[in-house]
Amino acid sequence: MEDIHLAAAKKNVMKAGFLDIEIDPTLDLFHEIERLKKEKNAILLAHYYQEPDIQDVADYIGDSLGLAQKAQNTDADIIVFAGVHFMAETAKILNPNKKVLLPDLNAGCSLADSAPADQFRKFKEKYPDHIVISYINCTADIKALSDIIVTSSNAQKIVESVPRDQKIIFAPDKNLGAYLVKKTGRDMVLWNGACMVHEIFSLEKITKLKTRHPNARFIAHPECEEAVLRLADYIGSTTGLLKYTQQNEATEFIVATETGILHQMQKSSPNKTFIPAPPNNSCACNDCPHMKLNTLEKLYLCMEYETPEIQMDEELRKAAKKPIDRMLEISAQYGL
Ligand code: 13P
Ligand code: SF4
Repeated sequence: MEDIHLAAAKKNVMKAGFLDIEIDPTLDLFHEIERLKKEKNAILLAHYYQEPDIQDVADYIGDSLGLAQKAQNTDADIIVFAGVHFMAETAKILNPNKKVLLPDLNAGCSLADSAPADQFRKFKEKYPDHIVISYINCTADIKALSDIIVTSSNAQKIVESVPRDQKIIFAPDKNLGAYLVKKTGRDMVLWNGACMVHEIFSLEKITKLKTRHPNARFIAHPECEEAVLRLADYIGSTTGLLKYTQQNEATEFIVATETGILHQMQKSSPNKTFIPAPPNNSCACNDCPHMKLNTLEKLYLCMEYETPEIQMDEELRKAAKKPIDRMLEISAQYGL
């Protein structure tokens, strides 16, 4: 008979967002997760912002585009997504017949939250001759209102692929949007959303750090504000930033994005130094509170009991899939 605590936790899983039960502290969670992957033909996909232990046990670690492409091509029966909700939702949109698990359903995204669908629908109505290009960091409802999805690694190419006389709304990230306007010369209408992690880097502290480390390269994610991006030697997606540190001859890097990426940077370039760019508060580095809701314990539990699972309305899924398919097609054309 099922343990009474387990039964109660399963019943409460959609409300709590995760299976709220104690784990035997002697369990080797790395071993257990590997065992479950094999037994259940499950693939574990992790974003670079996940905690190092989760990255180390993942089958694939990547940026948002890489993760969507991996989810599109897997033959696993179960996709376990160590990332935030919109990422797991994208995997489900691409794989309606697979089980998609997220260790903690509360792992949201401030950027996705900054574009509520009802408000965005009204905004869109004001620009009837515009198409909508949306950053993948948005809900399925916003995707369903969009023509093409982009990520930080293909956004510039995709915007440039749209005929010059076609008017564009870009949502939800105003910082990435402003960066794209600058790079492409396209005058896009921007939705006023932002990422809580990338918006709070301190210009003053970064400038001081650069003075103290004159040989360091300063690299930044395009979700950062314009004033921060202006200081950057290189701007790119998490994968772009990682590759830059691998290929550049510099031995010191100041990194303006979520700190999870530093784990892979340090692993692939053990002799180089990586300094997290400081935020505008008392912390020394910048963690995404949503990404960091996933833990090794919650990951093990969601795999063992196959819950919580991403569920989606089929009409919404089909509508949200079209602009994602468009993104994947254009990305493939450009070899991205
Ligand atoms: P990328 O994975 O495209 O670099 O985006 C970073 C991010 O903020 C994901 O939430
Ligand atoms: Fe969302 Fe920002 Fe966290 Fe990425 S880092 S998941 S954009 S809140």
